[in-house]
Amino acid sequence: MEWSRIAVFASGQGSNFAALVQAQRENRLGGGQIELLVSDKPEALVARRAEEAGIPALLLRPKDFAGREQYEAAIVAELQRRNIGLVVLAGYMRLISPVLLAPYAGRIINIHPSLLPAFAGKDAIGQALEYGVKLTGVTVHFVDGGMDTGPVIAQRSVEVNPGDTAESLAERIHQVEYALYPEVVAAMAASKVKLNGRMATLGD
Ligand code: GAR
Repeated sequence: MEWSRIAVFASGQGSNFAALVQAQRENRLGGGQIELLVSDKPEALVARRAEEAGIPALLLRPKDFAGREQYEAAIVAELQRRNIGLVVLAGYMRLISPVLLAPYAGRIINIHPSLLPAFAGKDAIGQALEYGVKLTGVTVHFVDGGMDTGPVIAQRSVEVNPGDTAESLAERIHQVEYALYPEVVAAMAASKVKLNGRMATLGD
């Protein structure tokens, strides 16, 4: 398994996927190479983006499998066939089971649009607006078996403005995501992220 061989998992628009592809083109991915897109939604825009970028895609519908374990086993087989060493979740809206977590322990990261542990789960931006926080942001974290519960690698804050809508806030959060995720992926691809208990550090 090579750290620099990356699979990106996404379920929707794939704007973070596009930002990572762009970062790779501009040599901002620490030598990382996006070798594969994995999506559980073959009709999602991200699948078209991968095609346009010339990146192979594994598009599998979970409901075509007997269960989550079988679905993930098919993914793991393809990851191993391609010698993937780093799994980058970018808007992949499914919990990961031990079938994928065990072979990729410490090698799966996720981006979430809030300052975790606040507003885990779905619609983090809507949750933050509804709560009325003045500061929210973006978290990149290691994935464990829980919902957005793994050790935090990096966080960046975004102010909530009076009059913000879900759309206007999401737009600013996305811009921060597009800058932060390539930085963290670059550090991971270059094996520069160390984990000590729950404390992750980026360095040499
Ligand atoms: C991103 O904002 C990402 O942080 C969020 O989904 C969006 C995907 O957008 N992820 C989660 O909420 C995970 N719990 P994209 O498909 O345009 O990259």
